[in-house]
Parts: sequence; structure tokens; C-alpha cells
Amino acid sequence: MNVRNILMSAAMAVSTAAIAGTPVYLDSSAPLEKRVEDALSRMTTHEKIRIIHAQSKFSSAGVPRLGIPELWCTDGPHGVRPEVFWDKWKQAGWTNDSCVAFPALTCLAATWDKDLSHLYGKSLGEEARFRGKDVLLGPGVNIYRTPLNGRNFEYMGEDPYLAGKMVVPYIQGLQKNGVAACVKHFALNNNEVNRHYTNVKVDDRTLYEIYLPAFKAAVNEGGAWSIMGAYCLYQDKHLCHNPRMLNDILKGEWGFDGAVISDWGGTHNTGEAVTNGLDLEMGSWTNGLHAGASNAYDNYYMAKPYEDMIAAGKIGTKELDDKARRILRLIFRTAMNNEGGFGSMNSEEHYAAARRIGADGIVLLKNRKNLLPLRNLANGKVLVVGENAIKMMTVGGGSSSLKVQREVLPLDGITAALAGKARVEYQRGYVGDVSGEYNGVTTGQNLAESRPAEKLIADAVAAAKDADYVIFVGGLNKQSGQDCEDSDRKGLGLPYGQDDVISALAAVNPNLIVVNVSGNAVAMPWADKVGAIVQAWFLGSEAGNSIADVLTGKVNPSGKLPFTFPRRLEDVGAHAMGAYPGTKRADSDIWDLSYDEGVLVGYRWFDTKKVKPLFAFGHGLSYTTFEYGKITADSKDMTADGKMTFTVPVTNTGSIAGAEVVQLYITDNKASVMRPAKELKGFDKVFLQPGETKNVTFSVSPEDLAYFDADKHEWIAEPGKFTAHAAAASDDIRSSVSFTLK
Ligand code: GLC
Repeated sequence: MNVRNILMSAAMAVSTAAIAGTPVYLDSSAPLEKRVEDALSRMTTHEKIRIIHAQSKFSSAGVPRLGIPELWCTDGPHGVRPEVFWDKWKQAGWTNDSCVAFPALTCLAATWDKDLSHLYGKSLGEEARFRGKDVLLGPGVNIYRTPLNGRNFEYMGEDPYLAGKMVVPYIQGLQKNGVAACVKHFALNNNEVNRHYTNVKVDDRTLYEIYLPAFKAAVNEGGAWSIMGAYCLYQDKHLCHNPRMLNDILKGEWGFDGAVISDWGGTHNTGEAVTNGLDLEMGSWTNGLHAGASNAYDNYYMAKPYEDMIAAGKIGTKELDDKARRILRLIFRTAMNNEGGFGSMNSEEHYAAARRIGADGIVLLKNRKNLLPLRNLANGKVLVVGENAIKMMTVGGGSSSLKVQREVLPLDGITAALAGKARVEYQRGYVGDVSGEYNGVTTGQNLAESRPAEKLIADAVAAAKDADYVIFVGGLNKQSGQDCEDSDRKGLGLPYGQDDVISALAAVNPNLIVVNVSGNAVAMPWADKVGAIVQAWFLGSEAGNSIADVLTGKVNPSGKLPFTFPRRLEDVGAHAMGAYPGTKRADSDIWDLSYDEGVLVGYRWFDTKKVKPLFAFGHGLSYTTFEYGKITADSKDMTADGKMTFTVPVTNTGSIAGAEVVQLYITDNKASVMRPAKELKGFDKVFLQPGETKNVTFSVSPEDLAYFDADKHEWIAEPGKFTAHAAAASDDIRSSVSFTLK
């Protein structure tokens, strides 16, 4: 090549670079940290302040001068919230923001199916991306400590291992769309009553073994890009700016590189917000639901007051730069992420996903004489009773309330599935919530009813006498005090006199199926009197189809309970210990709540204290039967640096295909500390044709055997004897094998 050509190609190279001279922060092929540092170096202090607090109800500023877009958040864990006004909780009245409501997260947890969790996150991420949202305010993984907690329906049950394993695929599926998960509510937000004022007291062992693991999995395995601080307090400091939880544990021990976003109204002072790990202040002076000081944004704790402190030389910009880096990282991962695709919304794939997750999460609790699935209908009569058969459930519950494009109600789903097979009649049975309006979303339903309770029961009983099947659809309904944010239930019992209706129906028809729609355990004094009990969740847009799929046998139920159903409230650890809702301080609004039951949460309490539950954690029946072979270990001893593999043969001994969730629990037979009778350390959902056998294997390492030693601040697996149990439920151990940790 002659000299001229060399010079020409060199000049071309330079000019290309000059044209491309795209600043590094705008170059999506550049390494993330280079983009962050380049952007940061171009920003003024005021621009850095602007991006660390809200500019509207659900958005924070970008850097217009540099072409860095603003950040848009949206509720919630089950679907994309309808648009509200810039600075009002009021519905903006858009007509393009009706969405698909996916089943509540208790249902997803009840599937015990990691693939479905990924499908869930992917589908929801597509809806959020299509709506132009960068941060999805979910999933929630607060541990189910009391069945009264109003928001358990948004979470993944009582066991940290199950919640941790099930939250990871959801986050991965979601974030592939360039939409950040904002895992919530970090941490210790385990009840709604006094949620802004509860100061949780919990020992370190319980904190590390029970309340942190699901969040740690979300961050370290799920790679969550953001996390939401909770409203409550820990060590007398609000969780949205809590030094131990955010600086020491989240960002220190776990190395979290994402952004800590406050809950709406969870920030309380500038000094703590600046130094204790908060990165984005949202919703100050609101209560996260309806109240708010208008246009306060410039006066936010991390707005002008912070900027004034810097200007006055009272504080440097080290903390500000760290916050700004984390927000820029979040923007580059979402709004400026070119790999996230363009999403999709209200697609048949999303409806199919909602329907499948719903059906696979439904738990068959009882099925006397195989009453289900519905069969031999021969144009008989099926009576459906109960308000939850006709009431929209995609609304209500607080910030996770949605405006859906469609919702198939249980009565609709059952009627459609039985068309041409049986005559379906309906009776109200009881009256619960007839408001028809939730967070400004009106359902258009008119559920008004003038008959008194006795008449409603009499009419239902009269109609039940000659029915081949009676399907009662009741439960809770996401009204205040009935599984709803900012309120807890007052007791374990069903509301609106449902127990009387169920008992009256059971007295006249043995073929009574109770479908309980709820996100919490409820008392079932009639459990021995009815033929079948089905735990259905708040199932979203495809509720009626998911329920009908299971009742008709189109889907063989495979869900397992993600939390215990106690016989009585006082059988639950927290309540047996009087550790709820805590005690109010004489001189302030603060309630001190000490988690006195310690690590004995859920089945850990029932197993260790030998209390019999109504239905156990991990319980769920199928229309087929499964036989477990003997569990075997690949060696007698586990070495300190080794793993052990356990194998469990499982056979479908019935006549139809089905799925079984095989659970592995481990007992530490001799420990220097009190340990729960056994703890979940593995699960796998296997799909088996009739007669088919599969070997389910579990890999266990010494870390899985460890307890957290608070004094040494480390996990300890003590050498000695352990036992591995293969189980179909926490109270249904099929076989066990002992081994020694050397
Ligand atoms: C609410 C909730 C939180 C929600 C936020 C925005 O109060 O606590 O889960 O994402 O405020 O609505």
C-alpha cells in the first residue's frame, strides 16, 4: 500500500472516531462503569442532586442537558399500575394503560416452579417495558411471620429458602427486558399495622437465617438492580436510611452495586438519608397511598436542604457522587439499555402465562373420596355460591391494585368450562364488598344486594339441595383488613359470615367444594364437613380459567402451600409468644416489636413445638398419586469442603400425568444451639406420566447445614450427625437417611 493510501486510511480512522466521537456515556457498547464515570464527570452538583430525588409521583429527573433520560418507576409486583397524575394519586384516565394482571406472588411461590417464575418475570417485564417503565416496584419477599399481615399476598411465604429460590428467576426474567426489579420491602416489614412506626427488635441469628436470605439471593443470585427500603425501623432507625441494613449489610457484606430507593414517604431526615445509604428519595410527605404535600420536590430531604449543606461546606460530595453513580448505573441498565427490546402488552402469551401460573399455583388441600375433578356431570346441575365468584379481584389491596384489560371471574370460568356438560346456577351466599371503586379505578360492577344474610343463606341452601356439585367461592377480597396494604386482619376467621354459609351448605350437600381465594391462611372450622378444599390465590386476569382448569381436571393440581395453615391463630409462633403487634412507647408514636419466636417461624415452630397445623407448609394434593422410593446418599460422610448428592426415586402410581414437588429437609441431630426440627434445603418439581419413575437429586454442601453464629458473625456447620428427609410436605416425610459431617 503506498504512502498516500496509508495517510488516507489513517485520516479516515481519525475522522470516523471524531464522527463517532459519541461521548462514552452515550455509547451503549462501552463498559458500564466507563459510561457511569464519563457521565458523572460531566454533571454539575445541582444535576447530581436532581437525579437522587423524585420530580413527580413516580419519576425522578434525568440530565436533560446531557440527554440522560429521567427514570420512571411503576407498581407493582403483579402487573403494571395505571397512570396517575404527575403529582396526584388520582387516576390520569389514560386509555392505553390497561394491563394483564398476573397472579399474586403467593401463587407463584405455591407453584414451587422456577421456570414459571422466570416466565412470570419475563412477561411482566415485557408489559413494563412496553409502558416505558424503567423500575418495577417489586417483587416483595418479606417473610410471612403472621397470617394477619395485610401484604402477605404480595410476598412468597414463610420460608427463606423457598422465597430465595423463587425470587431469583423472576428478577432475571424481568431485567432481561431492561426493567429493574426493586425488591421490597427491605427489610423486616412483616406487618402493616403501624407500618411507619414499628421498631423491629430481632436477634442477629434470626435476622440472618430468616429475614435476610431471600433479599440476599435477590441481590447476589438475582442481580437485582434496585431495592426498596421499608417504612419500619430497626435499631431505632428507619429502614430507608438505616446504616446497618444498607451500608454494612447490603452494600458492605453483599456488595450491592444497585440503587436503594425509599418507599414512598419512607425518608425522614437529610443527615441520615445522606450518610446511611439511601440513593433515591421517592414520595416524601406521602403515605404511599393517598396523602401528599404537593410539589414538594425541591424541598425533599435530599434536594435543596442537601444542596445547601454542600454549598455551606458542611459536607463534601463523596456521598453525593456515590448516589449519583448508582442512579446513573440504574439509568444505563434500564432507560438507556438498548438490549431490553420494546416489550409487549396484553398479548395472548401473557394471558396464557397468567392462566398457567394460576392453575399451577392452586393448591388442592382436601379431596375426600376424590370428589374432584368434576365428572359424571351428564347435564346435571352445578351450583356456584359466594361473592368471590363474581367480584373483580385485580383491584384493591393497595399499591398493587391494577386496571386490567380483562378479568375472567370464577363464575365466568366455571360456566364456560362446563358449557354443554352441566347447568351452572349461582347464589350470592353472602355480601362482602360492594364499593366498586379502588384507588380511583372503578370496576363498573354493581354488586348491590338487598336480601338479608339469613335469606341469602336460605336461598343458597334451597338451590344446593338438588345440585350434583356445590362450589363455594369465598375467602378474602383485598378490602381494608382483608389482605390489603396499610391494614392487617384482626383475626384468622373468614369475614362476612362465610363460615355459616359453608356449614349450611355442607349440611345439605356432601359434594361441597370450598374454593378459598386469599393471600393468607384462614380458619376453616368446617374443614371436616366439606368434600374438597381448594386454595386459590388472587389469580389475576385469568382467575376464572385457572380455577376451572383445576376443578375440571384440565390441569392436574400441583401447587404446594408456601406457608402453614394453622388451626388457631395462637398456634402461630409470633402469636403464641405474644410478639405481635408489639407495644407502643409511652412518649412517642413508635411501637417496639420484638420477634421473640426467633428462628421458629412457620413450620419451624409447628415442627419444633409439635403443634399440629390444619394444613402444613409444602402440603398439596394431586389427582394422581406418587410413590417415593428410599432416599439414598452418595456417601456416608460429608467432608468440610465436599458436597453430598441425595437421590430420591419418585413414581407416578396413578392413571393420569401429574407434577410432584419433592422437598428435601435437613435435621441437625445434635447441635450446640437450639435449631428447628428440620429446615427446607432443596426442592424440585418433577412431571411424571402414569407409571413413570424419575430420580430426583439434591446436592447439599456444608453451607446448607450451617446456622448463623451471631457472636462470631459467621455461619457455622458443626461436625456431627444430620438427617436428610425426602418429603411431599413438611408433615409428610416419605424417607430419611442419616449422614455425618466430618
Ligand atoms: C407504597 C408501598 C410500596 C409501593 C409504593 C409506591 O406505600 O409501600 O410497596 O411500591 O408505596 O406506590
